[in-house]
Amino acid sequence: MSLYQQTYQQSVENPETFWAEQARRLPWFKFPSTILSYDDQQHARWFDDGELNICYAAIDYHVEQGRGDQPAILWDSPVTQTKQAITYQALRDRVAQFAGGLARLGVTKGDRVVIYMPMVPEALIAMYACARLGAVHSVVFGGFAPHELAVRIEDAEPKVVIAASCGIEVDKVLPYKPIVDQAISLSSFKPDACVVFQREAHRAELHEGDHDWQTLVADAPFADCVPVKATDPLYVLYTSGTTGKPKGVMRDTGGYAVALAYSMEAIYALNPGDVMFTASDVGWVVGHSYIVYAPLLRGCTTIVYEGKPVKTPDAGGFWRLIDEYKVKSFFTAPTAFRAIKKEDPDAKLLANYDISSLEHLYVAGERLDPPTFHWLDDLLDVPVIDHWWQTETGWPIAANLPGIESAPTKAGSATFPVPGFNVQILDRDGEQTDPMQQGSVVIKQPLPPGCLTGIWRDPQRFHSAYMAAYPGYYLTGDGGYFDEEGYLFIMGRTDDVINVAGHRLSTGEMEEIVGAHPAVAECAVIGIHDELKGQLPIGLVITKDGFDGDEATLEAELISRVREHIGPIACFKQVLVVNRLPKTRSGKILRKLLRNIADGKSFGIPSTIDDPTSLEDVHAAMCERSVGASGQAKSLDV
Ligand code: COA
Ligand code: AMP
Repeated sequence: MSLYQQTYQQSVENPETFWAEQARRLPWFKFPSTILSYDDQQHARWFDDGELNICYAAIDYHVEQGRGDQPAILWDSPVTQTKQAITYQALRDRVAQFAGGLARLGVTKGDRVVIYMPMVPEALIAMYACARLGAVHSVVFGGFAPHELAVRIEDAEPKVVIAASCGIEVDKVLPYKPIVDQAISLSSFKPDACVVFQREAHRAELHEGDHDWQTLVADAPFADCVPVKATDPLYVLYTSGTTGKPKGVMRDTGGYAVALAYSMEAIYALNPGDVMFTASDVGWVVGHSYIVYAPLLRGCTTIVYEGKPVKTPDAGGFWRLIDEYKVKSFFTAPTAFRAIKKEDPDAKLLANYDISSLEHLYVAGERLDPPTFHWLDDLLDVPVIDHWWQTETGWPIAANLPGIESAPTKAGSATFPVPGFNVQILDRDGEQTDPMQQGSVVIKQPLPPGCLTGIWRDPQRFHSAYMAAYPGYYLTGDGGYFDEEGYLFIMGRTDDVINVAGHRLSTGEMEEIVGAHPAVAECAVIGIHDELKGQLPIGLVITKDGFDGDEATLEAELISRVREHIGPIACFKQVLVVNRLPKTRSGKILRKLLRNIADGKSFGIPSTIDDPTSLEDVHAAMCERSVGASGQAKSLDV
């Protein structure tokens, strides 16, 4: 049996012993005597009576251990032409002082704080400061529009909102404060205060109840780390579900810290003092886990990059950072490499840099498509590791594990389940499938430490979304299969969630917005294949009887509605007015079939269809407007 297999088996057969051992990595205030217990819904609770503070474990502890002079954060911002190194000691002081400022505003243990900031060190400082006080942060990605921010404020009920005055995209400065102001006015819940970090590119106008970050910290006392229970929430991170209401994924403190610390060794093969570069955003789970918390828990240096894979200033940006900061593990989304490949197909810019420090390259957020895998694999001398995870799990469910034992890579596979995750593939009847047979990917209870502990204020939704489909298993929402050698292949979502440039979006939410237009009788939003972004949403719309407006104007209005509601990252840019939508006799729109047609796959007309000619109509409309690869789709006789 391989070392990986031994470790994996121990983890699933004897989880308490396994995780008690891993928990020893952390500086607990009180080491837990109970390792695994269950709540009244039979969901796992880890390290119930343990006490710790994750800010202490990630920062203060390392200062005490003599790492004070090591950089904790390296900020590199090509969009502002700025670089900054912050040592562990300096970070401790800045976090403690900002936490002191927050405490003055009345923030205490258990209070929520919403953070709406771009990739600046202050975003991390704000998160650590909340953790220091035992407050629960909820970071909202800067690409979300006021409405999305308002929904999150309404649900999380934060005492304070922390924002930057602006974000900076490649060629534009985006004022954030008006978005925050509009969101607060849309929300029926009103926070007590808003703290604004002013940036030179655009200073925000402050109103009553607003506090300037610098003024707030100027004479604030240093705040101590507040001990919290392992099961106390560290953060709520909203993610797209199948409806318009995002799910507030709740993360505990102790289980998360243990899982992240374990992953830094087992998956990312990093030692204290090493440099990790995760090119994502603090608004996503990848940012929470592998920009903010995990690298520092391990005593590493984390890079905060305010730039893009291309155009800041060119497709060599990532190679530059790896060279300049001697990065050992690099992690980003496949879409970023597709963007680089598009601009620099032969990676000529790589020749300008020495990336010999790099030992492993990791990708996640969407499946690493085989062409991009081969491009990277041919280009680089290091293992290219596709690993699969979700906002809900907080850390990888399946990966190659060089910190335990590297396995040969297979294109298109996320390799093996990570210790702790008892991954199984079930068919519709809940039976385990044979190798190579696709099914629903589930995780047998108990979920390991680090995974969601619930949906904020909605235990019923937690149960119905994840636990009800197959009792005793967590439903990932992904489809996939194991091959004969136990490699896991994740093939895509089985629900209405799509993945656009590594960003998770709900087509159900877009349908709600499109369907609310007075001229729309019915609609479907589907995710179709896109070379660069993986998927793109497209809307198919039937207008109400009597609609005599201009279709092009309606299409433009629908596009701008989605942009205004969700934000630019929805990338909703194509709408088609059609006469009919193909449905089953029970009235269900045949979305999967529509997707296949748009992706150029040949399609048979299912026997359950209500009106077979509707499918031909939609196909013709898609071809006329050159939607995706619909021109290649052929109707088959079945
Ligand atoms: N704040 C405000 N607006 C933002 C934003 C932010 N933080 N991030 C993106 N946007 C805007 C963009 O400016 C763009 O607006 P536009 O329609 O006015 O041009 C829109 O949202 C779409 O952005 P995006 O999908 O990112 O497209 P892009 O063409 O700007 O960049 C990539 C394409 C592939 C380079 C980029 O998506 C990328 O770097 N992806 C990596 C994904 C990632 O890190 N995922 C996290 C999980 S690991
Ligand atoms: P998010 O919660 O935004 O991280 O998105 C999670 C979803 O992204 C998963 O459920 C998958 O559908 C998809 N995903 C993430 N990483 C991978 C991967 N390595 N391979 C395949 N799909 C992935």
